Amino acid sequence: MPKLVAMKAAGEKITMLTAYDFPTARLVDEAGVDVILVGDTVGEVVQGHSTTLPVTLDQILYHAEMVGRAAQRALVVVDMPFPTFQLGKYRAIENAARVLKETLCRAVKIEGGVAQAEVVEGLVSAGIPVMAHTGLRPQRIHQLGGYSVQRDRDQLLADARAVEEAGAFALVLECVPAELAREVTAVIQIPTIGIGAGPACDGQVLVFHDLLGLTPGRVPRHVKVYAELGNTIREAVQRYCGDVRSGTFPSDEQAFQ
Ligand code: KIV
Repeated sequence: MPKLVAMKAAGEKITMLTAYDFPTARLVDEAGVDVILVGDTVGEVVQGHSTTLPVTLDQILYHAEMVGRAAQRALVVVDMPFPTFQLGKYRAIENAARVLKETLCRAVKIEGGVAQAEVVEGLVSAGIPVMAHTGLRPQRIHQLGGYSVQRDRDQLLADARAVEEAGAFALVLECVPAELAREVTAVIQIPTIGIGAGPACDGQVLVFHDLLGLTPGRVPRHVKVYAELGNTIREAVQRYCGDVRSGTFPSDEQAFQ
């Protein structure tokens, strides 16, 4: 956590990416990301739900345990699912403590600003490092009525200041106009990590499946797709099926004599 704050001070960009299982986390860690997030987006990109709301604490712990063991150098942060931190600070501490006790991960992320400042403060005073998440908060999707850009300047600034004051070590800004994200980044000392929040944030985060072309359908505008692994996998599986059907797999090379 202190290294991330120092990176902001030195003007070094922070890289963050989601991972949900051991082999993926190993690859992401070896590739050199600074922070791995066991995001509740697991509900969408792995479980196939249309929101993050169905994800449970036991499910996120199952994934966090694998990712925590795989990461050798990155900081691993675990998303607290809905409503594990909305029921008051003692329930939040009890739930978040399971992350530190049952996995090798070292911090939690919670969605919220001013309204969650007391919970952030409670977690931090219990020794649980907290990354906060403001701007678009997917756990409030039904209240927001959709995944839209968040433009309320006063609210965003108040949220950022509140979580910094409460002791959060970093802040995710999701779907915020670039100029507003620049302003928030300038007024707080803790690093901002943007997703759909422009280039001025101290770091960037993307969802692994979006980055690698594994998300079915249209990816959001803020995503840059770095590889089309979905097509690569589909083609490889089609070739395998073709080889089995035509009798060219297995050949003598793959057979035991
Ligand atoms: O759950 C998640 O993957 C996230 C990122 C999109 C920041 O919260």
